[in-house]
Amino acid sequence: MKVAVFSAKTYDRKFLETANNDYGHELVFFEPSLNIDTTILASSFPAVCVFVNDQLDEKTLQALQEQGTRLIALRCAGFNNVDVTAATKLGMTVVRVPAYSPYAVAEHTIGLILTLNRQFHRAYNRVREGNFSLEGLLGFDLHDRTVGIIGTGKIGAIVMQILKGFGCQLLVYDLYPNPDFEALGAKYVELPELFRASDIISLHCPLTTQTYHLIDSQALEQMKQGLMLINTSRGALIDTKAVIDALKSKKIGYLGLDVYEQESDLFFEDLSNEVIQDDLFERLLTFPNVIITGHQAFFTANALNQIAQTTLSNITDFEQGHHCPNQITLEQIILTKDAA
Ligand code: NAI
Repeated sequence: MKVAVFSAKTYDRKFLETANNDYGHELVFFEPSLNIDTTILASSFPAVCVFVNDQLDEKTLQALQEQGTRLIALRCAGFNNVDVTAATKLGMTVVRVPAYSPYAVAEHTIGLILTLNRQFHRAYNRVREGNFSLEGLLGFDLHDRTVGIIGTGKIGAIVMQILKGFGCQLLVYDLYPNPDFEALGAKYVELPELFRASDIISLHCPLTTQTYHLIDSQALEQMKQGLMLINTSRGALIDTKAVIDALKSKKIGYLGLDVYEQESDLFFEDLSNEVIQDDLFERLLTFPNVIITGHQAFFTANALNQIAQTTLSNITDFEQGHHCPNQITLEQIILTKDAA
């Protein structure tokens, strides 16, 4: 099948081309992201393949459909950037990669926690400059600390298991509690208790209308002074302005982000010679106790290989008229909205 691959980086090309030896699709790679201004590139392509920051709103989908596109193949799990209801109305099929390597994201989450706590980034620079002073590098034992995990799906579950190994106390929240995790020693509580009792809070739920700005000034007020907040899920789970205020007042003692609400203007590009216009993002970078990575939690060879395999298999299922287990159905959308 002829597929227009948008937001294509060298690593996307490498893993998709290698996996495509087994599938034989005609892949054409485009560096720009897909939005209303770039739909023209997909003219006469029956399938487009997109990533997290491609914007497939109703207008873009309409334009794609008029050009002959029938399949939207997401090479990611989250689908908040695609208006699936509009796509379905237009007779388009949307498929995704629901799971690739939850370990990749979970392990990156732990990396952020350890780096913020033990300040590896500062220690690395100090030692290279011959500065062996320990002033300002004081950390804390993770053992026996209380970690609150919001969202106990595939990634949240692995984060829990790793933290259990550190000897942490686990408070968790999910719309659909899983009794297996209580056997692991995690305790399901309501959000106010999780906010009140946690030393570290890590977000692993999807972005829905219910979770939009889940961490706002009211939520932050309920939290412990000096807590550590980690977000490797979706940027808009956090109200960035409220978080900056909480950093200034020292309510938040450590902040680790792999995602950012306005990341589509920044992430995945080399902007090192540009003047960044996003003042909120720039303010975040001024805090010594903030670490930001540019949506790289998924970025392992294992994950990229799995993403390529599943994406191409989804496209083959569609092309051959087979049922695709990774199709996003309207029932899933209704479930998300019910949850909202
Ligand atoms: P999952 O679907 O396995 O788990 C999500 C969990 O969140 C489910 O248990 C669900 O019941 C729960 N949930 C839904 N609404 C909720 C709410 N309102 N409050 C609390 N819990 C709620 O998803 P998975 O694979 O664990 O991924 C989690 C998130 O991680 C994804 O939604 C995605 O946004 C993000 N992600 C980030 C990546 C990165 O590179 N930074 C890569 C992959 C995923």
